[in-house]
Amino acid sequence: MELELVLKRGDREIIKVFSVPSSSHMTLLDALWYIKENADPTISFRSMCRAGVCGTCGVKANGKPVLACSVDISSFGGRVRVEPLDGLRVIRDLVVDHEALVERLRRNRVWMVPTSENKPLPPSLFRRLERGYECIMCGLCDSVCPVLIQNNSFGGPMAFAKAYPILLDPRNKDPRWQALALKENLINACTHCKNCSLACPKSVMPEALISLEENYLVSLGLLEKNRQEDFGFL
Ligand code: SF4
Ligand code: SF4
Ligand code: FES
Repeated sequence: MELELVLKRGDREIIKVFSVPSSSHMTLLDALWYIKENADPTISFRSMCRAGVCGTCGVKANGKPVLACSVDISSFGGRVRVEPLDGLRVIRDLVVDHEALVERLRRNRVWMVPTSENKPLPPSLFRRLERGYECIMCGLCDSVCPVLIQNNSFGGPMAFAKAYPILLDPRNKDPRWQALALKENLINACTHCKNCSLACPKSVMPEALISLEENYLVSLGLLEKNRQEDFGFL
């Protein structure tokens, strides 16, 4: 098995090719660690949980965003080209800066301001909201969003997906305040292309959650029905 690594170092782009023994159940992350430990200790990539939970190991493999710890290298055939994710500043090699993702969470006010009463969620409501809880904030969806590429004022599918269960949680003190943040972050500029849902490794389906949020904003009188924000390319 061959790995072609596209490594970004300052203004330079270095391409290095390594052979790794492809044993069964070897993930792309295992292969990167194999290279680091046996061939080139200078390569940089990021990992923590190795279990698809922490969301830190996103890279592009053969042009598609993936969690390196969650894909089997045998699924790529004999060769795979590994690059840093699109749309985020590259710190070094395959490591991208997640600060832009955190900033979008801040801008969209993605946190709970609880009511004084802390009742458990009814199971039926929990099932409606659980897609949003599954989001591990890996940013793969943001890296493929054409609206974000066009305009950084857009809130991004990750923050919108993460906001969904908070917005509709009855224990949230001021959902209108959060709904306003989604409007200010131009949620209705989403073109519903579904790139984000196709890229998501946890099947969160951010595009579907954005549709539900838009409907909710319409019900609050914050958006006009079927009116899409125009960034000049619609
Ligand atoms: S569906 Fe909307 S949020 Fe998702 S990638 Fe397309 S434009 Fe971006
Ligand atoms: S919605 Fe999916 S792709 Fe986007 S950050 Fe959450 S888990 Fe990652
Ligand atoms: S290392 Fe945590 S999701 Fe891959």
